Amino acid sequence: MSEAANAEVPIIETNRLVLRGWRPTDREPFAALNADARVMEHFPVPLTRAESDALADRITTHLVTKGWGLWAVERRAGGAFIGFTGLAEVTFDALFGPAIEVGWRLARDAWGFGYATEGARAALRFGFQQLGLEEIVSFTSPRNVRSVAVMERLGMTRDPADDFDHPRVPVGNPLRRHVLYRLRRTDWRATAGPESTT
Ligand SMILES: CC(C)(COP(=O)(O)OP(=O)(O)OC[C@H]1O[C@@H](n2cnc3c(N)ncnc32)[C@H](O)[C@@H]1OP(=O)(O)O)[C@@H](O)C(=O)NCCC(=O)NCCS
Repeated sequence: MSEAANAEVPIIETNRLVLRGWRPTDREPFAALNADARVMEHFPVPLTRAESDALADRITTHLVTKGWGLWAVERRAGGAFIGFTGLAEVTFDALFGPAIEVGWRLARDAWGFGYATEGARAALRFGFQQLGLEEIVSFTSPRNVRSVAVMERLGMTRDPADDFDHPRVPVGNPLRRHVLYRLRRTDWRATAGPESTT
């Protein structure tokens, strides 16, 4: 994707991160994290280089055409690409849809610093303030305790009645069952606060 197209992507800065458009140099570290069995433990399979590049292309096209999406995440100190966080349309048929989800995927060596929560908080603020969304959801396998912990730190809440089987995970796969977390704009205002920057 050209730098000119990328110029349309809004940049979001937090205390320790920059959420920005994707660059060709992000592809290699993105492929490395998508091939890492620890990062992909809660997905059916890790991604090949070609699948990782195709995913980066889809993400970039969405970001450039819509002006929001899954931003590339860069650590301000040193400028390393560490993964993505941001907003995405739920594209499968879901009882809770149509919906916008907040999501994250970071390289293993970037876990344990609060970066996912910090980046996602900024993405939620963008969704509620810039896009005017009434609700943002997130979902994962309940085995993915780190991801569930991010949702809870963000003030999202789960109603077990919303649990569902992900239609894109094969029947019989233990990762098929998912928990759904929701955050309404009114509750976000009361918890994270629109002025918070991290
Ligand atoms: C899900 C994922 C992004 C969570 O990453 P994470 O680093 O655990 O989450 P956070 O960025 O919120 O960091 C929280 C941790 O940083 C610690 N931390 C350290 N310094 C911190 C700081 N300055 N501020 C906040 N937290 C800090 C917290 O104490 C917490 O540690 P703990 O895990 O020991 O409790 C990561 O595990 C991942 O990329 N997984 C693979 C992809 C994936 O499953 N994505 C979700 C699919 S639904």
